[in-house]
Amino acid sequence: MDKLVISGPTKLKGEVTISGAKNAAVAILPATLLIDGVCKIDNLPNISDVKMSCKILEQLGAKITWITDNEIEIDTREINCTQAPLDLTSKFRASYYLIGSLLGRCRSAEVGLPGGCNLGARPIDQHIKAFEALGAKVEVAQGKITAKVKKLVGTSIYMDIVSVGATINAILASVLAEGTTTIDNAAKEPHIVDVANFLNTMGADIRGAGTDVIKINGVKKLHGNTTYSVVPDQIEAGTFMLAAVASRGDILLKNCIPEHLDCITAKIFEIGGTVEDYRDSIRVSMNKRPNKAVVKTLPYPGFPTDLQPQMGVVLSLADGTSMIHESIWESRFQYTAELNKMGAKITAQGKSAVFEGVKSLTGAPVYATDLRAGAALLIAGVVANGETQLYNIEHIDRGYENIEEKFRSLGANIQRVVEPNANN
Ligand code: EPU
Repeated sequence: MDKLVISGPTKLKGEVTISGAKNAAVAILPATLLIDGVCKIDNLPNISDVKMSCKILEQLGAKITWITDNEIEIDTREINCTQAPLDLTSKFRASYYLIGSLLGRCRSAEVGLPGGCNLGARPIDQHIKAFEALGAKVEVAQGKITAKVKKLVGTSIYMDIVSVGATINAILASVLAEGTTTIDNAAKEPHIVDVANFLNTMGADIRGAGTDVIKINGVKKLHGNTTYSVVPDQIEAGTFMLAAVASRGDILLKNCIPEHLDCITAKIFEIGGTVEDYRDSIRVSMNKRPNKAVVKTLPYPGFPTDLQPQMGVVLSLADGTSMIHESIWESRFQYTAELNKMGAKITAQGKSAVFEGVKSLTGAPVYATDLRAGAALLIAGVVANGETQLYNIEHIDRGYENIEEKFRSLGANIQRVVEPNANN
């Protein structure tokens, strides 16, 4: 098992290029099942979740050609199977998008219950509610979800909670339905807009993505013959912005959309950092200890839960006592026990945590408990005094492209070491 060995402290300085968004890519790839044709997708992040999605699509009959590490050509004219391989789908969360896509394309889907980061309960009742509203019969049994329908018919779907996955799945299942579907209380994250833009480029008629009411006028067919570029990753960009602040460094992030980062920029100003927006880049610097702050995670455009652990590292070093309230996931403070091993003083209880700021962190052996926890601990290792050994980094590889090279190019001292059975 690989580990990262990080020697700190380092003030991160320089330029970094942000990759395509993981959470858009893992939805756009299954969305190609709705196309009866060939298309190209570029700015795909070179991460293990993308490779897993491609493997599943190939097993369903898609033909994929890798043009570069970040661009594929995908031919979905001959989809010959509606059963997604259970061993692969159970490995990551986004496999639930295969249900909406297969249902839309083939009127039938059988997909293993999704895996992914352990952040507490991750129900999919709103996804099922959307499929049923469109006319499907859905069953959950023996670790899999089976959905079948004779004809998908457009309808009104009201989401009881704001859910990224359920919103995208409802879009996927209704693009080829008969008539109009309206999704009320839809999620508004940049990757929702990106999935809608991708499908519209291929001939769908989706309006209002990015607002809380989305209207989908069903079309008969989606065509290919187009290249689509995945939106830059809001969360990867936010991770580097917070790494600049935590390390009291100065980073220029290229290939990002500053508007998607407003909620992070606002917090960085509040804690005493500097942010300069350009057209498709953003520069973040910090030259003092961060001020304390109160942070509450919320659906977009609120502060993203996927940046909560990285913000936790910043606040563990702040001047004074800070507070984070996690309002999306039940169990997203597992990283705090690891940060405390590095000298942080964090008390987490339920969905809240109190951060009594310390002046510095000290390197220690720590374990990534999930993807974003891994990114946070990597930042902690960069800013801590001495050596940090970061284990379970397969979580990080699921969602960050070339992470150690990117940090190294900013001055961090990081090595990847292969160590068998590191977690035993
Ligand atoms: N929820 C339900 N019922 C549902 C669906 C969701 O109760 O049917 C609840 C969840 O339990 C949670 C809340 O609604 O409390 C929001 O969940 P959402 O459905 O928005 O999350 P998701 O689609 O499963 C995506 C990202 C997560 C990110 C969340 C929130 C992907 C593949 N995953 O998950 O990303 O935290 O949205 O923004 O897009 C990550 O990238 O590290 C990650 C965990």
